[in-house]
Amino acid sequence: MTAAQADLQIDRPAVADGAALWRIARDSKALDLNSSYSYLLWCRDFAGTSAVARDERGEPVGFVTGYVRPERPGTLLVWQVAVDDAYRGRGIAGALLDGLVARVVAEHGVTSVETTITPGNIASERLFDAFAARHGAALEREVLFSTSLFPDGPHDPEVLYRIGPLSL
Ligand SMILES: CC(C)(COP(=O)(O)OP(=O)(O)OC[C@H]1O[C@@H](n2cnc3c(N)ncnc32)[C@H](O)[C@@H]1OP(=O)(O)O)[C@@H](O)C(=O)NCCC(=O)NCCS
Repeated sequence: MTAAQADLQIDRPAVADGAALWRIARDSKALDLNSSYSYLLWCRDFAGTSAVARDERGEPVGFVTGYVRPERPGTLLVWQVAVDDAYRGRGIAGALLDGLVARVVAEHGVTSVETTITPGNIASERLFDAFAARHGAALEREVLFSTSLFPDGPHDPEVLYRIGPLSL
């Protein structure tokens, strides 16, 4: 852990963190913002497959949400990752991802990670490229949801990144 991260703590979200996760997602301007209700529900039902980074006061400054795919229980799907603008570029997203995956490997025995990224999100592409490289895992990409599948106006395609097998 770098000095910049030393005063941050990474752990599971609680329902009381749901509002902060919604705000971080909203302020990221890059993520699809889901309803505040969905973040509260996520913090209740998927806390075990999600993680938050907290500042010295315990306030969330970044998060990663995910779930174990019901039909592929060896795969962790990472739904959203965001770090507050003021805390970016310090390795926090990488640390969140490493911490979460280590926990989910230990508790659920997953062997691969999936996520979707919209083309051109360089920080996100590098985050997952670097994650795959750190864990000696192959990375495959394919379009999961094309633009035409989205009902609510123009939406960039979502490209599936499949990373595995993991060596942890
Ligand atoms: C993507 C995001 C979570 C990265 O958070 P972060 O804590 O700054 O990321 P890290 O410091 O751990 O860096 C991860 C990798 O991305 C690279 N990176 C980070 N910000 C970058 C930027 N603006 N441009 C290019 N590369 C960048 C880092 O260099 C690092 O790669 P490396 O290990 O090869 O050097 C953050 O930029 C964010 O919240 N963006 C808005 C929300 C979003 O797009 N989420 C992802 C959707 S799945």
